[in-house]
Amino acid sequence: MIKLTVTGRESERRTIEAAEGLSLMEAIRDNSFDELLALCGGCCSCATCHVYVDPEFAAKLPDMGEDEDDLLESSDHRIEASRLSCQIPLTPELDGLKVRVAPED
Ligand code: FES
Repeated sequence: MIKLTVTGRESERRTIEAAEGLSLMEAIRDNSFDELLALCGGCCSCATCHVYVDPEFAAKLPDMGEDEDDLLESSDHRIEASRLSCQIPLTPELDGLKVRVAPED
């Protein structure tokens, strides 16, 4: 299991555990962070799974694809740490990852 610390929009912070192979979006959504809408179900077409990833883990994340980059560009809340959580598969290297759900667009 991969341990994650998730901070929601109302600043509630919880440590959750999720199985390797799930996406970060699935792990957050399945642990009742309802504000992470993930409307497209993970096919990289909605940007409602936007999170900010702790910069300490930036080098361990998969490279950002063009679609993800384009979608994030449409967000008013994009920052350096922005990623779409559905595009991040959970791997053992991400154990201990800290993420914050980005503000709603
Ligand atoms: S769930 Fe729609 S882009 Fe991630």
